[in-house]
Amino acid sequence: MGTSDTHLFHSLMLIFILFLPCFMVKVEALNKRLSGFYVFGDSTVDPGNNNYIKTAFKSNFPPYGRDFSNQVPTGRFTNGKLATDYIASYVGLKKELLPPYLDPNISNIEELMTGVSFASAGSGFDPLTPTITNVITIEKQLEYFRECKKRMEEAVGKERMENHVKEGAFFISAGTNDFVLNYFALPVRRKTYSLPAYQHYLIQHVKEFIQDLLAEGARKIAISGLPPMGCLPFMITLNSPNSFFQRDCIDKYSSISRDYNLLLQRELHTMQMQLNMSSSDAKIYYIDIYGPIADMIHARKRFGFDEVDSGCCGSGYIEASILCNKISNVCCDPSKYVFWDSIHPTEKAYHNIFLASLPTIDFIINNN
Ligand SMILES: *[C@@H]1O[C@H](CO)[C@@H](O)[C@H](O)[C@H]1NC(C)=O
Ligand SMILES: *[C@@H]1O[C@H](CO)[C@@H](O)[C@H](O)[C@H]1NC(C)=O
Repeated sequence: MGTSDTHLFHSLMLIFILFLPCFMVKVEALNKRLSGFYVFGDSTVDPGNNNYIKTAFKSNFPPYGRDFSNQVPTGRFTNGKLATDYIASYVGLKKELLPPYLDPNISNIEELMTGVSFASAGSGFDPLTPTITNVITIEKQLEYFRECKKRMEEAVGKERMENHVKEGAFFISAGTNDFVLNYFALPVRRKTYSLPAYQHYLIQHVKEFIQDLLAEGARKIAISGLPPMGCLPFMITLNSPNSFFQRDCIDKYSSISRDYNLLLQRELHTMQMQLNMSSSDAKIYYIDIYGPIADMIHARKRFGFDEVDSGCCGSGYIEASILCNKISNVCCDPSKYVFWDSIHPTEKAYHNIFLASLPTIDFIINNN
């Protein structure tokens, strides 16, 4: 062998050695599969439940969904998939999409067993929030899960259903609407709660919801924190002194997200300690979305984004839901945008959020 051949040989060996462990970890991840994936929350994880209820908070019309291969709007508040769709196919439970529970086409028990989303756009932890938008409360989402358990029990029996729930992963994503649609927008809560008091009030509701899930048999529960709220194009438009020319993130609002996220992590830690002390094997995981979204905005070039302070739909400053519709202008290339409408990330941004959460997802799969 000449020197260059030897080099080539060594390089190939190195590649082989480097990739072999990845391959083996992958196989292991597949062996320890989750049984099902159940999701609760707001528009960030609603694949179209609001299509089936009476609310103005919908997105089952163009240009929503325009980057699906058939361009069919599904009720997802983005141009394509949500992070939860990527997760469901990554863990091998779904081929493409995590369906909405209220879809009447879900008659097949396999679909329920592998996972559904109960989330409803416009919902929140504060019971007042979903009444503003007339959407499905978090409590009602849990009731739907109980109904889902009954349907599974009828199909596979009580014991198998209970094991199934034990081996499933539960994911909750909500909280932004409690601030954006409720606390900042309406006087009701601001009259009775200071900002820190309101944050505690929300965390109390999060805690109760997690306790309810544990009581239903859930053993792997993940919950995301808040995004940088001051970077949402809608918030910039409403709160910037000159919202046409000055479109920087408004730290006053993002700092509220950071405080909330810290409180939430502290609460989850306490809950985990109490679970450990009671010899429960339940695990609660925090998923950071603040960091990944702030990174996309502050290091846009690294991710290939051009626009980070306005959405792709319409002017990008204010439109969302029914204001982003078939007569709206749409940008040429949504993959250059972090935001699809004035509130919600593009499919590309959701994919990046999914990639950033992969280490936690792998940990959940393997940490039995
Ligand atoms: C539901 O099923 C019917 C009949 O099979 C089909 O025409 C319709 O497009 C389906 N709807 C959805 C939302 O998949
Ligand atoms: C709970 O127990 C697990 C081991 O089962 C441990 O890894 C974790 O650090 C504990 N967490 C807390 C908050 O005590």
